[in-house]
Amino acid sequence: MPYDGLRDYLSVLESHGLLQWVETEVDKDWEISSLARQYFRKMDSKNRTALGFRHVKGNDIPVILGIIGGSRRIYGLALETELNAEEFVRVWKRGFENPLEPVLVKSGPCKEVILKGKDIDLNRFPIPIWTPEKDPNPYLTAACSITKDLETGIRNVGVYRMEVKGKDRTGILWDLPSQHGALHFVKYEATQKPMPMATVIGADPTVVMSAVTKVPFGVDEFGVAGGWRRKPIELVPCETIDLEVPATAEIVLEGEIYPGERVSEGPFGEYTGYMGGPYQMPIFHIKCITHRKNPIYHALFSQMPPSESSLMRQIPEEANIQYHLSHFLKIPGIVDVHLPESGGSYAWCWISINKKYPGHVQQVLCASWTHYPSFAKWIVVTDDDVDIRDPFSREWALSWRVEPKKDIFFIPNTSSILLDPSSTPPEVPLWDRLSSKICIDATKKWKFPEIALPPEHYLKRIEEAWDQYKLK
Ligand SMILES: Cc1cc2nc3c(=O)[nH]c(=O)nc-3n(C[C@H](O)[C@H](O)[C@H](O)COP(=O)(O)O)c2cc1C
Repeated sequence: MPYDGLRDYLSVLESHGLLQWVETEVDKDWEISSLARQYFRKMDSKNRTALGFRHVKGNDIPVILGIIGGSRRIYGLALETELNAEEFVRVWKRGFENPLEPVLVKSGPCKEVILKGKDIDLNRFPIPIWTPEKDPNPYLTAACSITKDLETGIRNVGVYRMEVKGKDRTGILWDLPSQHGALHFVKYEATQKPMPMATVIGADPTVVMSAVTKVPFGVDEFGVAGGWRRKPIELVPCETIDLEVPATAEIVLEGEIYPGERVSEGPFGEYTGYMGGPYQMPIFHIKCITHRKNPIYHALFSQMPPSESSLMRQIPEEANIQYHLSHFLKIPGIVDVHLPESGGSYAWCWISINKKYPGHVQQVLCASWTHYPSFAKWIVVTDDDVDIRDPFSREWALSWRVEPKKDIFFIPNTSSILLDPSSTPPEVPLWDRLSSKICIDATKKWKFPEIALPPEHYLKRIEEAWDQYKLK
């Protein structure tokens, strides 16, 4: 049964014991982020729950985080699927191949409170500071921003962090040319028109998931979300701009981005594990805020990996690449794709294949990052006997299946992964940065010696008789 918006999903999360409420009063300017960090450090990733803060100092609105990428179990529940790789790619395909167009309804709970003029004030919401004493301001981190293509009218929904710059203004960080909201803005700016934008906080989990996923340009994320949840997303028209937003959203910000306007945005504790910025970025001017009565403030927890953000990138991007290679490009023999969280789930791309023909590895090395320009820096292809999800096995494959001079090549002058501090000195403007990719063939190039382990049948016998050896 698809969830009927965020609140319905939260009650299911809670009934599975996957949402814990902190009853102590917390300070949004240092305590929420620091507590989340320590929780992520202490808890094994399998056992993590989402966290809710009911008592935020000076504010009645609760804050929730980790409700999508707190753990793989949570992510599976949000998508209503078992998270084994096969099942996940199946659900994934459903969203892309059978999208369900959103439907327009007259009104919805997101209109329960409508604020305009002097009532517009972002300080109403308990927006946390994520890197205390290093971020200059609070940031919206689960902000799903909706824009439309000036030429085609096709909608885009993307999560881009937004720095609170005043009671009715935020910054927005866009990676160009990779981010589709930025591509929309380029078209508006070229014609000197302001770009209308609606930003939604607290939407159905599938909306947030589609908004952080690299859905191809020109495909509406709401349709993909509808396909995943097997029911169209219901949208309502905005009050002041010609855009539509999910009817059950907790909070909606309506506004415009003006051409030619840039201000300093950042620094911000980034998913790379480093502070990023400041950069010169556009400003979002808020014309209207609508919200539900007693809204819930949704945040995504990021900064140093592992974090909610690295898991939220890892799970969909792995499926995305698997799908891109196997289904779009029809490359045979793709067994698994893994993006380790240590690289923010962007820097490393490991692919195991069942090698079928000469040149197969080079084809996969070159094709694996082409679904968007900046993705991945280290790309490694191994044989399918290597467990690419195990760090030790990955290093083992690099140790003995790679002859550095022959098996490594570079692709120069590629788009830089946004915020990679190694790509160029900070004075180079963000959108002009270039980097390169390293492609490593870690497959066996000829018949290798046998693996130096006892035959499996002996190991199995030992396993069966384990207790008799009385080893502790
Ligand atoms: C927690 C989180 C925060 C993100 N923040 C940004 C950001 O500030 N700027 C950006 O360009 N991408 C950001 N991303 C990545 C985009 O959401 C992602 O690339 C998505 O595909 C963008 O939507 P688009 O493909 O429609 O452009 C973030 C992802 C996550 C999970």
